[in-house]
Amino acid sequence: MSDQDQQQKPDRQFDIISEKISDLLDGFSNVQSRSVAVSSASEAVKQSQELAAMRVQYLGKKSEFSSLKKMVGRIPAEDRAAFGQKIQEVEALLVQRFKEEESFRNKCIFDQLIKRESIDVSIPGRRPRPGHLHPITLMRQRIEDIFVSLGYIVEDDREIETDFYNFDALNIPEGHPARDPQDTFYTAEGFALRSQTSTVQIHAMQRRGAPVRMIAPGRVFRRDTPDPTHNPMFFQVEGLCVDRGITMAHLKGTLAEFAHRLFGPETQTRFRPSYFPFTEPSAEVDYSCFNCGGKGCRICKQSGWIELGGSGMVHPNVLRAANVDPEEFTGFAFGLGIDRTCARIYQLDDIRLLFENDVRFLEQFR
Ligand code: FA5
Repeated sequence: MSDQDQQQKPDRQFDIISEKISDLLDGFSNVQSRSVAVSSASEAVKQSQELAAMRVQYLGKKSEFSSLKKMVGRIPAEDRAAFGQKIQEVEALLVQRFKEEESFRNKCIFDQLIKRESIDVSIPGRRPRPGHLHPITLMRQRIEDIFVSLGYIVEDDREIETDFYNFDALNIPEGHPARDPQDTFYTAEGFALRSQTSTVQIHAMQRRGAPVRMIAPGRVFRRDTPDPTHNPMFFQVEGLCVDRGITMAHLKGTLAEFAHRLFGPETQTRFRPSYFPFTEPSAEVDYSCFNCGGKGCRICKQSGWIELGGSGMVHPNVLRAANVDPEEFTGFAFGLGIDRTCARIYQLDDIRLLFENDVRFLEQFR
């Protein structure tokens, strides 16, 4: 190869290479490639990466293009300036084309992201389904509010009990016939699921001593066969008031006030003699039907009265079992069924509905 050939070579090679890069870019930016990039962000990302690799390969420091640039010194002096200028122009042009292709793809990626992540605030939102309280909880809260306003504290206690708290301390010794109707469920270790909230009377007096004024709402368990007014698991609220000089009149006044506040000021109460081992004397409490006012209707089964629960004066043996001196203190207690009261108020025919967990039923208590 002659000297002149050698000197011409970088120039020619330069033309060949820049043409090659230009063709490559033409191919890369053809209509099809652009439309694919437009339609999918992942394709635009892929093309953008390919483009970056091409740029390094063809214009980077180790590229042929770069080697050619270094050969500028071998160009005859009179052509060198023109050659250098040509290199700069072509390089600027190629860099510009790379930039255009890159920014086109970046814009595609950005547009796709905007499209995917944008929120149309004019579209009606999907309304979250708000939860609400169970009717038993609503009922329990209404009862709690009334007694708290009368100066009672709310006790929460265990549902698993020893025989002592469930029976013995409530004056129901082993073999006592009163254990039968309240027979409950037992654990393998001999603990009992409490069959009445009266167990909390003992815990509260042991914990707080006397005087004490408390209510204890909670779950209780009995081996009762389910029917419209019975469930093996239901809720009661216990009430206990122990102080010096407490009489049956306080019991009657308290439950009458409670009935007024829960069912309305016209409500009457009546006390029927009854028997509970842990109270003496004992009484069942009824209230005049809130629906017919005592005339007789479907809700009160034509009797005009609805049963509220059991009550009485705390038996001295119960005070003793809880280390309270019956010579100094007297008290009254009562126990109301929340499920049945709830069923009456909401006019349900069957208390079992309350625990079937049918959302269509429960949604009515929103
Ligand atoms: C008692 O449980 C007594 N501990 C109440 C008491 C407390 C009396 C303090 C004296 C002093 P009784 O077994 O009657 O009493 O139950 C009270 C209420 O619980 C009933 O009026 C009824 O509303 C409800 N109840 C009883 N058994 C069930 C059942 N299987 N399902 C739903 N509610 C029930």
